[in-house]
This record gives sequence, structure tokens and C-alpha cells, in this order.
Amino acid sequence: MVPELLLLNGPNLRLLGRRQPEIYGTDTLADLEAAVSKEIAGRGWELASYQRDAEADLIRLIEDHYECASAIVNPGALMMNGWALRDALANFPRPWIEVHLSNVWAREQFRHESVISSLASGVIVGLGAVGYPLAARALLGKVPD
Ligand code: DQA
Repeated sequence: MVPELLLLNGPNLRLLGRRQPEIYGTDTLADLEAAVSKEIAGRGWELASYQRDAEADLIRLIEDHYECASAIVNPGALMMNGWALRDALANFPRPWIEVHLSNVWAREQFRHESVISSLASGVIVGLGAVGYPLAARALLGKVPD
């Protein structure tokens, strides 16, 4: 079976590139997917990428992808109150990395806490679109051949 990297983008990330580009940049979801796919291609990994606005949908996708080699999760605003998402990620058996495009620490106080970060293998914040392929690269290093 070809190993897959699960890429999950949460609420409000569908319109990347057109959503507050001064904060989230001009790269689209397709651009991010292409960058991650390129990063993992050398290892023969494939990308399974989904964007969902509803927490329940993200939970089901996590449950359905336990066989994936690893995952990248941008939970969007669910970082602040996605307790059910956290429970689902707690049962994900593989290393995964949380990514935020913007530097949440430099923004409003309510973005300063993530309920999922303590479960992640690592967190990338504020590097924009390049955070995604960087996370993929880190995961390649965490998962043995
Ligand atoms: C975000 C940061 C969150 O605080 C926000 O709710 C988002 C996007 C980011 O990628 O910077 O939707 O996760």
C-alpha cells in the first residue's frame, strides 16, 4: 500500500488566496497541496487532502485515515475550542503536525491558545504557505521507511 500523508484544513480555509490575503497570503489551497505533494513525492508518498468547515467532518476523516503515514492539520478557529477534534487527534496513531499560516501569537489574545497543540509532534506558526511543505519534510523524517 502506498503511504499517504493526510492534509486537513479546517473552517474558512477553502478560500485561501482570497481570504484576507494580507494575513493568510495569496497561495490557494491547490498551491499548498502542490507544494506538499512535491515534497513527499521523492519518498513515494501520496497526498490525501481535504478541507472541511465542520468539525464533525474533520473527525470522520481522521477516523477514516488511521492507515495514513502521517498528517498535517490546520484546524483554523477550531484551534481554540475544537475539543472533539482534539479527542479524534488523540487517537490518530501516527505523527502529525499542526500548521497555522499566520503568526497567531502576534494576533488577538483569543488565538493564543490551541487545544490541539500539546498532542502534535510539532507546530509551525506564522511562516505562511511554506509552513505546509516544511511540515511535510519534518514528517518524512519522523516516519521510518
Ligand atoms: C489560522 C489561524 C486561526 O486563528 C484562524 O482562525 C484561521 C487560520 C492560520 O492558518 O493562521 O482560520 O489557522
